[in-house]
This record gives sequence, structure tokens and C-alpha cells, in this order.
Amino acid sequence: MKRRLLAISMAALMVAGVFAGCGSSDNSADGGNAQTTTEGEEAVDVSIGTCIYKFDDTFMTGVRNNMEAKAKELGAEISIMDSQNKQPTQNEQVDGFITKGVTALAVNPVDRTAAGPIVEKAKAEDLPVVFINREPEAEVMQSYDKVWYVGAKAEESGTMSGEIIAEYWNAHPEADKNGDGVLQYIMITGEPGHQDATLRTEYSVKAITDAGIKVEEIANDTAKWDKVQATDLTKALISSKGIDSIEAIICNNDDMALGAIEALKAEGYNTGDATKYIPVVGVDATAPALEAMANGSLLGTVLNDGENQGIAATNIAVAASQGKEISKDTIGYDVTDGKYVWIPYVKVTADNYQDFQ
Ligand code: GAL
Ligand code: CA
Repeated sequence: MKRRLLAISMAALMVAGVFAGCGSSDNSADGGNAQTTTEGEEAVDVSIGTCIYKFDDTFMTGVRNNMEAKAKELGAEISIMDSQNKQPTQNEQVDGFITKGVTALAVNPVDRTAAGPIVEKAKAEDLPVVFINREPEAEVMQSYDKVWYVGAKAEESGTMSGEIIAEYWNAHPEADKNGDGVLQYIMITGEPGHQDATLRTEYSVKAITDAGIKVEEIANDTAKWDKVQATDLTKALISSKGIDSIEAIICNNDDMALGAIEALKAEGYNTGDATKYIPVVGVDATAPALEAMANGSLLGTVLNDGENQGIAATNIAVAASQGKEISKDTIGYDVTDGKYVWIPYVKVTADNYQDFQ
């Protein structure tokens, strides 16, 4: 009981805004709709309908758990559905939430180019919608004043993972296995069309060439963020190209990096023998990736801060449900162009990985 009260009063502090004048008369455009409850009860009237592109995704599982925890803490109701990687399923779930009368939607689209119809549905009901992790096109973002996006700048993570490879290459002359002065790498990408896949791929290579290193891409293929697909892909590439031709493996996320490492391990690589090592990088800093850094099989990763992404998305959904303006004062995060919350990435190397475990 006590904990519940504490949670509610924290909710009041965090979300209802202890900011000057907040609790007094409401002359806002919405006529004070859903705004008239006392501070302690406000968040209790919030009901967030959330769709996650698929539950079986390591990074998004972290985001969703953080959303749920934050909603509980704020006393808001949240219902989270698994869209099972199918856009039509997700659209039906959105319809269901609207029928049920949620006060806000939080959507991690299956297909980010399919966000338009979801915004249309929300707009028709004057319902706030916050997108997460898969960024809708700019026109869609501009088409409605109650749409927000929480994510991270994929370029940053690409640059950081490329820098990790460049630093390794410069410190380890033996990494140039064939001694031709060129870094021969394999690129394993996330789902085609995802901004994180496109930009991490581009910017990781750019960071390496910006460091003055010549590169040659010996293979570039998708494993759709998936560990098992990355293992199969890497095994096939080892067979077709030969393990000695591979000098680095750059992956758009950690699950795929860990999948690639499985394939290397099957060849006796990355298990502790310094003469049998191929540097592998990922992105996310998931718990298994940090373990792989501790045992030396993974060179480095980049923290994709699912905790702050989840919290920011929930704070927006709650504050918007209460008709509040979305700003740093109401959600605790900087808001760019009134619509975007960008959570920074952090480079994770042997020097600092323990800080994230
Ligand atoms: C990326 C993340 C991937 C995957 C993807 C799902 O940001 O790095 O691991 O979760 O989102 O959209
Ligand atoms: Ca070489």
C-alpha cells in the first residue's frame, strides 16, 4: 500500500509537473479534458497501448521491460502487444487499442515506412502517438502535432563501432593477415530498410577510412538482427571465402556479432589463442555481448540505451495523455524540433565495458 502511494506521488512529481502554475486553472485548447484530477491521481487515468515489432528481439525486450517498469512507477496502465513481425497484425492491434479507449499509443513499427496509416488512425481520434526505435519518414512526423519519436542517431553508433575496429587495426599490425595494407572485412547488416542498418553500415566503414585505413569489403549481407542467421551466414562465408581472408567482422548489432562469433568458435577462433583471432564488433551492449567482451571473444560494442529510450517513450505517452506540452520540463529529456528525443550512444571497449555490466 505504502509503495503504491509512493509510486503515485512520484508520478505526480515526475509527470504532473511540480512546475509553477501547473495545478491551477486550465485554459488550454483541449478545454482541460482529462486534466482536472488531482496531481496524485493524474497518471492513474493514463492507459498506454504499446506494440513492439516482435517480442523475440533482445534489444527491444530491454526497451519494453523499461517501458513497463516506468509505467508502473508512474501509476499508468500499459498494455504491450507482440506484433510478431507482421505489419497487418500491428495495424489490427492499433485498431484494438483505439476501440478500447487508450489515452496514448506507443508503437515500434514493424515497417517504418508503414507508420503513415497509424498516424492517420491516431489523428482521427486526436490520440497522441510516440514511435520508438524505427523512425517514420519526416513527412509522416510532420503530418500530425501529437506524434513523437524516441530513438538514437544511428550514425553515431556506426562511427563508434568503426572507430573500435580502426583503433584495433592500428595497434595490431598482425591484424593485416595477408600483409597487403588493406583491411578485408565482412559486413553483417540488420533488416534492410531499417535506418540503423543503413546508417551503421555506412558510418562504420566511414570511420575506418577516415582513420586513414584502406578497406576492402569481401562480403556484405543481412542476418536481419538475428543471431542464428548470422551464424549460418558467417559459416557460409568462411566456407566460400576461407577464414584466412577475413580480417574483421562488423555487425549492425550484438546478436549478429555473437552469431558470427559462434561460427568463428567452430573453427577454433576467438577462444583465447591469440594466433586465431578475428576482431568482431556489434552494437547494443546487451548482457551476453558484455559477457563476450569479458571473455575476449567480442572486441567491442556500442551502448544502445534501451533504458532511457523506454523511459522517455513512456514519459511522453503519459505527459501527452495528460494534454501536456512535450518538453524537457515535462518528460526529463531534451526534445528536438518539438518531436524528437535522441538518446546518445556510448562506445564500449575493453576499458569501460564493466561499467555497463
Ligand atoms: C536496433 C537494435 C537491434 C534491433 C533493432 C530492432 O536499434 O540495435 O538490435 O533491436 O533495433 O528494430
Ligand atoms: Ca589485409
